[in-house]
Formats: sequence, C-alpha cells, structure tokens
Amino acid sequence: MSKKYLITSALPYVNNNLHIGHLIGCLLPSDVYARFCRAMGRDVLYVGGSDEHGTTSEIGAQKENMPVEDYVEKYRANHLNAVRDFNLSFDLYGRTHTPQHEKLIHELFNRLDSLGMIEEKVSKQPYSVDEKKFLADRYVIGTCPHCGNERAYGNECEKCGASLDPSDLISPHSAIDPTSPVEMRETKHLYFKLSAMQDKLRAWVNSRQGWPKTAVTIANKWLDEGLRDNPITRDLKWGIPVNKEGYEDKVFYVWFDAPWGYVSISQIANPDWASWWKNPDCHYTQFMAKDNVSFHSVFFPAQELAMDDNWKTVDVLKGQNFLNFNGAKISKSTGNGIFLDQALDIAPSDCWRYALLASAPETDDTDFTLVRFAEIVNKDLNGLLGNFVSRVCKLSNKNFGDTVPSGAAMDETLAHQVNEKLAELTGALEACEFRKSIVALREIYGIANEYMTAKEPWALVKNGDMAGAAAVLNECFQLIDLFARISAPFIPDAAAKIQNIFEIKHDLSWPTMYEHRIEAQEKFTVPENLFSRIEIELNKE
Ligand code: 2FM
Ligand code: ZN
Repeated sequence: MSKKYLITSALPYVNNNLHIGHLIGCLLPSDVYARFCRAMGRDVLYVGGSDEHGTTSEIGAQKENMPVEDYVEKYRANHLNAVRDFNLSFDLYGRTHTPQHEKLIHELFNRLDSLGMIEEKVSKQPYSVDEKKFLADRYVIGTCPHCGNERAYGNECEKCGASLDPSDLISPHSAIDPTSPVEMRETKHLYFKLSAMQDKLRAWVNSRQGWPKTAVTIANKWLDEGLRDNPITRDLKWGIPVNKEGYEDKVFYVWFDAPWGYVSISQIANPDWASWWKNPDCHYTQFMAKDNVSFHSVFFPAQELAMDDNWKTVDVLKGQNFLNFNGAKISKSTGNGIFLDQALDIAPSDCWRYALLASAPETDDTDFTLVRFAEIVNKDLNGLLGNFVSRVCKLSNKNFGDTVPSGAAMDETLAHQVNEKLAELTGALEACEFRKSIVALREIYGIANEYMTAKEPWALVKNGDMAGAAAVLNECFQLIDLFARISAPFIPDAAAKIQNIFEIKHDLSWPTMYEHRIEAQEKFTVPENLFSRIEIELNKE
C-alpha cells in the first residue's frame, strides 16, 4: 500500500471574500503539493474548509446586521466559488460549525480536563461598559508595555512582536467603539496548561525538519519567551459551547476549536479517518500564512501531545510570509488587492496560479503588481509554453498531417538537460519550495524552445530533409507530453488541454525521467492558443 500523505490548508475565516493573499498564503501551495503527491502515486488526503467561529464572524454579522449563521453562509459561498474557480483539488472542504465538530471538541476538552491539563482561573478581563460585554483579545487596543506602540492588540504587538495578554496593555480601549470606556472586570475562564508542555514541545519542534526559517523562528520565539497557560474560553455567544458546569454562558476560544476542524472534517467525510490522524507513518504537511504559525507550531501540537492519544502531529509546517499588492497590505477595508471573484475578469485561473506561485512570499514579504503579473504570464505561459505547443502542432500539421511524425532515437543532449532540471523541479516540489519549482519548470520550457530554435525544423522542411524535420518534431511532441505532466500541478487547465492534443489520453503521472511515450502516427489536433497575452493599462494599477 502506498504511503499516506495528509495535507491541510488553513481554514479561512468566513468573514471576508477571499483574495490573492489567501490564494498564495495557503490554498495554492497546498493544492500544488497535493496534486504533485497524487501524480507520484501517493495516497493523499487533502483537507480544507471554513473556520466559522470567532469574534470576527460575530462582529462582522453585527455590522452587516444579519444572523451569524447567514453571515458565515454568505462568505462560505464566496469561498466555495473560489475553490471551484481556481481548481483547488481539495478532497474535503468542510466547515467547523457542525455537530461532529462540537462533539469532537467536547471529547477533547474532557480528555485534557481528565489529565489535569485544564485549570480554572479568575482573572480580570477588559469589559466594554457601553457595549456591555467582555472584549476578545483582538478587539482590545492599547499601548504596548514593551515598545510603547499605541495600537498594540490584546494578544500581540505587531510592532515589536511581543505576545501579550489584554491585561498587559496600558490604557486598553475597544477597537469597535473607541469611545466606550473599558475596565478590567473579574470573570472566570478555563486555561489550557500550555506551560506544562514547554519541554515536550521544545523537543518536538527540534525534531521537525523542512520548516521554513520564518516558521522555525516564530515557534522558537514562543518557546524562548516561555509558554504561558492559555485561556481557552470566551465570553461570547457564537462558538462551541463549553461543556463544563458553570460555563454555560461561554464558548471555546476559536483557536481551541479551529485546528481540530481538520480532524472533524475528516471524520465526517471519511470513515477511515483514523488511518490518517492516528497513524505515525502518515506524512503530514500543513500550509498557512505566517500569522497562523504560532497556533500550528505551538498551541495545536501542544494539545495533541498533551492528550497522549497518538494524534498525528504536523511533520512539515509551511508558513508563507505576506503578499502585498502595489506596495501595501491587501485589505478589504482599503480595497487594496485583487479579490478572487474579480480576478477571473482579468485572466484565467491558470495565469493567477502560475504568476502567484512564481511570486510566492516564501522567504520574505513580497510585493505583487498587475504589471509583474502580465510580465510573467506573457513571457512564460504565452511565450515559452503556449507558443511552443502551437508552433510544433501547426508546423507538423502543415507538413505531416494530423499524426505525429516518425521519430529517431531520443536526443541524448536534450534528455540530459531536461533530466537535470526535472530533478531540480521534483526536489523543489518535495521540499514545497514553489518559487524554485517554477524556476525549474520555466527552464524546461526554455530548453524545449532552444532545442527547436537550434534544430530549425522549418529550415529542414524547406531544404527537403523531411526525415530530419520529422525527427525533430517527434522529439518536440515528446516534450509537449512532458509539459502536460510537469505542468499539471501548477496549471491544471492548460495541462488538460495539452493532454487532449493527443488522441490517446496519456496519464499525467509524475515522470522520474524524460521519456518518449508518444508513438509515431498517433493522431493529434492543433489546439486553440493555450494563453493570450495580457495587456495591463497602467492606470488600472
Ligand atoms: O487566519 C485565519 O483565517 C484562521 N481562521 C485560520 C485557522 S487555521 C485552522 F486552525 F483552522
Ligand atoms: Zn510592542
């Protein structure tokens, strides 16, 4: 039986339409990796979905004056459209507001409680007097005691990176209603004893490999600061009710329930879920943006380890940095960025997939512009890939009809060059280094173009060397077949069109070596142009 690969993509909050930052932050990298693993013949479970709880949904619904259930449904519909439109190949795309999820969270809480990992603490929490409610960490703003930043949040200071508790803030006030006085009032909450997991978690983090530098730095920063016990209940109405006496008015903290969504979504859809989630031999890769890293590298695995129930912890955690647009943060409120429900009016999904992966913020925050987008699409997809396929098919069709002309032996120099880059491409995908993988992919397209330019099959035809021209074109058809296979994880629509050029549907399994799979005399059709040039008017920037 082939090895199991579990792949999860962070569950976006359903309080916003998805934009290109979400796409490159986790959705696309995870999809490319899942497609690559499947093409390698691995047994893949690729899980995503909606994170439906949390204050952002509750407050968003208030602002839009609708019941929270309807509000999350509205944004989930937008997300589902994006999943469809951008060809995200999730095996499961579930949600967290389900009876199974609630049942799971209740069981897990009981388990932690029975192990003595839960503690009740009375603490003073910020209470917004006019709004008549306790405020969640993120909705308390005040001055950072470490650096003096006056816009620090109750859970962290984005300026100096300190992790904070709302009571650490100087002059806390409500983010929603800054005029409402905020005072610290006593309330009791349940805490997960994260501090007890310090040594175990440190050893676990040290045993992980293949995490990007940003992710390792974030995890170690938390460990170096010393893990603090973490409140896992909130004074809110929307969320998973707390299954403990005396906590009837509270719900679990969204980050206590959300990562377990990966599990409950698997449980709902797959009776075999435990063969992934309780299987130490399964290989688990998580994808997310960097603001999610601390929860996935510290908070979630600490709970899994604390339960001592053989839960599968993440092997490789891929945290992306942020993608900016035109030099500024992508944001719903400022309207800066490209939202996925508008993106397809500009170009088809493959173009976005490829250009975003070529710009993946893997090592640093990265700026993206429409000019850059057009350059990448025009040069690589339209120029190197599309034109090659089109020229080969047209030239061959004109001179040899609608079947692949007879070939000669494989061109060894070409094969050597291709194989070298293919190994780089495969290695980059194994390591989930997507920029590198796009570089190698583009180089293979380039090698094919150089081959054709050097061999000049049109000149051979002109000089009457039809056997020579046939041999070159045959080699080019083999390269086209290779393109379909190696492009499929990145640009699945174009790969399917390339695959359909040939009358026989050759599988898109991942090649270990360049090979000749297309028989002479196999029928083919000249395809429509795979891509069109993108012209960006600068005033649209
Ligand atoms: O940042 C977000 O959008 C979170 N909803 C991600 C949650 S990931 C996982 F824990 F579900
Ligand atoms: Zn600070």
